[in-house]
Order: sequence, then C-alpha cells, then structure tokens
Amino acid sequence: MKSDSRAAVRVGLIGFGTVGQAFARLLARETPDLQSRRGVALSLAAVANRSIDRKRDRGLGEGVRWTEDLASVATDPGIDLVVELLGGIEPANGLIRAALNTGKSVVTANKMLLARHGTELQALAREKGVGLGIEAAVAGGIPILRALRSSFTGDRVTAVSGILNGTCNFILTEMEKTGRPYDEVLAEAQRLGYAEADPASDVGGDDAAYKLALLARLAFGRDVAFDQITREGITRLLPCDFVYARRLLLTPRQLAVARLLESGHLLLSVRTHLVSETSLLAKVTGPFNAVEVRGESGGPFIFSGRGAGGGPTATAVLADVVEIARGGAPAAPPLGFGVLEPCVPATPEEFVSPFYLRFVVRDRSGIIADLARILADHGANIEAVFQAPYEDKSALPFVMTLEPVSGKALAGALVEIDSLTFHVVPPLALPMTE
Ligand SMILES: NC(=O)c1ccc[n+]([C@@H]2O[C@H](COP(=O)([O-])OP(=O)(O)OC[C@H]3O[C@@H](n4cnc5c(N)ncnc54)[C@H](OP(=O)(O)O)[C@@H]3O)[C@@H](O)[C@H]2O)c1
Repeated sequence: MKSDSRAAVRVGLIGFGTVGQAFARLLARETPDLQSRRGVALSLAAVANRSIDRKRDRGLGEGVRWTEDLASVATDPGIDLVVELLGGIEPANGLIRAALNTGKSVVTANKMLLARHGTELQALAREKGVGLGIEAAVAGGIPILRALRSSFTGDRVTAVSGILNGTCNFILTEMEKTGRPYDEVLAEAQRLGYAEADPASDVGGDDAAYKLALLARLAFGRDVAFDQITREGITRLLPCDFVYARRLLLTPRQLAVARLLESGHLLLSVRTHLVSETSLLAKVTGPFNAVEVRGESGGPFIFSGRGAGGGPTATAVLADVVEIARGGAPAAPPLGFGVLEPCVPATPEEFVSPFYLRFVVRDRSGIIADLARILADHGANIEAVFQAPYEDKSALPFVMTLEPVSGKALAGALVEIDSLTFHVVPPLALPMTE
C-alpha cells in the first residue's frame, strides 16, 4: 500500500471514544499538510461505534461513512487500513483478524489485546504481507517501540524499565506533595480525569504489565506472557511511607522492570520501588511516563513524556498510519523480532535488592527483637531502624531497612512476620533501587 497524489490510503476507524475522536480530528487537521509536504495521501472513509448517532461529527467531512456495523469496516473492500481503538479483547481481536485476513493493514493502541495475543497477530500480519502498527499501545505519545524496533538493533538491551502508568504516578507524587492518604488522592485523580471510575487495572499493576510485556518482547525478542510478570499495586502505601522515604533521601515510584540476568532469565515485575530523590525517575511527576533502556554498549537512555490522553496517543496512531501508508508492510516485524524465543522468568532467588520494610503495630515490648530474630533466621540483615515520633501507641509506624536480600528469603521471613499478632496493617516491603 503506497500512497501517492492519485490514490489516497482509505482509513476505517473502529472505536470513536477518547483516542478515536482525537485521532480523527488530528487526521482531518493534518491531511492537507501530510499530502503537500510529506507526499502521503490519507482519507477517513468510515467510522464505526455503537450508538453512532450520538457520535457523528460533521467536521470530519461529508465523505465519511458512519456505522454501527464494526465488521463491515473491518472487511470493506473500499478501506485499505483499519485503525482499531475500541480496547478490550473481543470484539477487537476478531475485527483485527478479519481486517488482516482481507489484506488490510491495521493500527491499534490496544495494549491488553497485544499483551495477550500480539505474537499471533504479528504472525498473521506477516503471513498476509500487511502492516500492524502498535506504537500507541505503550506510553502514549512516547515513540519507544519504534526506538526499540530500529534504533536499538545495534546494541544488546540488558534492561528496560520505567513509569508506565500515569494514574499511579499522579497518585504517588500527589501523596508525596500533600501528605494526603491514598483514597483522597485517588478521588481527586478521578475528578481530574487521571483515573478511571474503576481504577483497578491501573492501580493494581495490570495496565503497566500489559505495556511491559510488549516492551520486553521488543527489547529481548522473548515471548513474554502477561502472567509471567509479577504485579503489586500502590494501594497499600500510607502517608508515613513518604515521610520515611524522604528521611532516606528516596521517593516511591511505581516501576515496571524487565531485566536480563546472567542466567538468561528475565526479571519481570511491576511494583513500587523507592528510588533516589536525585534520580531522573524521581523528576517524572504527575501523569507523565518515562522509559529507561539500558544497552550493553550504549548505556542508559531515558524517554519521557505524556504517556496517555487522547492527543498524545493519537499522534502515535497517526505516525503508524503514515509509516504504513508510505511503505506498505514495514520491513521490521511489529514486535521487533520475527521469531520470539520462549521467555524463562527469573526465580524469586534471583531478585536481590536492599529492602525497606514498614510496620504499623500496637506498641508493646520485644517487637524489634521478634522481627530481628525472624529476619536473621531467613538470612536477612537489618541495616537500620527508623521511628519518627508518633503519639498514637495503638498504631505506631516504624521502618527497617535491610541489606541486599533475595526476594525468596524475604518472602519466607514475611510469611512468619505476618503471623505475629501486633500488626495493625500488614507489613509493606519495597525494594530500594539505585
Ligand atoms: N485513553 C488513553 O489515554 C489511551 C492511551 C494509550 C492507549 N489507549 C488504548 O486505546 C484504546 C481506546 O481507548 P480509549 O481511552 O479511547 O477508550 P474509550 O474512550 O472507552 O473509547 C472506546 C470506544 O469504543 C467504543 N466501543 C467499545 N466497545 C465497543 C463495542 N463492543 N461495540 C461498539 N463500540 C464499542 C466505545 O463506545 P461507547 O462510547 O459507547 O462506550 C468508545 O466510543 C484502548 O485499547 C486503550 O487501551 C488509550
């Protein structure tokens, strides 16, 4: 599919919500410039969504077919390229397959679908010789997948990590700034449009894990499955964690991490880390995203910007549409590697880090001695104990930092520690990252 001044590439849009509307408006705005200055001719041929009458936008031109029949757009011979912006697994999966099977290229921002079925969709697109654009599925407007697919082919990537969920980052940085509790800040994030009415996928870590599965496939050429990524949300952080973190010159950030270990195993996790206050990740605040890529030869690179929102995400969708319109099926496979090797995830023994342990207890004598004994039994060495002056002896927070210890040893100790009767809330363990 090559665009020239005679034949415009006809785009069918399925899903006219936040990103779909932003994309359609961006396309309408940019079409003349793309044609006159970049030589790429595009036209919006159809828009499909349920209850389409409430969505019609006459500003997008008279030539657009508005329909509730999603499948008719996926298989329409009058459409060259389908943009899927519905979200979810079905009907998106079936529609994308139908479009690819009828020889159309597809552009999608659907991280959940790509994390679960991206490898099969890539195979189908390559079998049919058509394009599959996925840039918008990770970190919105940040062009990180394109960079991994092309700019990093000259290096061996050893780690890719970052702040991939703007909702979590907004909540953590607001809790830090204002000292308010999680529930209050979540409600504010929902008012401001930074959190969904049902925030579970964002604050529980699933959303970042979908994106990490894609990043890790592109970085390492391994067929990373969503379920191989350990996930822990931000919901258990308390205001006191921010007070103690500051004393340690650290700050909480919800990080998605994929790291290649010497064993050849991949460490894959989404959880809250304490990072240095002076690190670049600590400077990423509010709803912003950042992705760090470490190359064996090139060292660390950071990509930062708006990781969500209709406008930024639409730019990534349009860039994929333009790339496909210019050259047909791009030479590089969407996931960077034509054949993905199996992924062997790291075992808990292989994750070794210094840890922050926070307790909230009903005060009584002997608590530190009990904890120290259990930690020592599991080979964990206490580095320091911190207790800020708190009045309430019935819910007294304090913190221990541990010297580097394996995730397995710590998990064993925490099972025993959890069974002690003085806890007001379960203990919280956060890795402390350089
Ligand atoms: N929003 C972001 O910042 C962002 C960033 C990166 C990637 N993405 C991805 O982009 C995609 C779209 O996200 P979004 O935020 O634009 O979602 P959205 O606002 O909920 O839009 C989805 C649209 O699809 C329609 N739709 C959903 N299921 C349908 C069905 N079964 N039949 C017919 N119409 C259906 C919805 O109709 P109704 O209006 O009737 O519900 C809505 O108009 C998702 O894959 C998402 O993960 C979003």
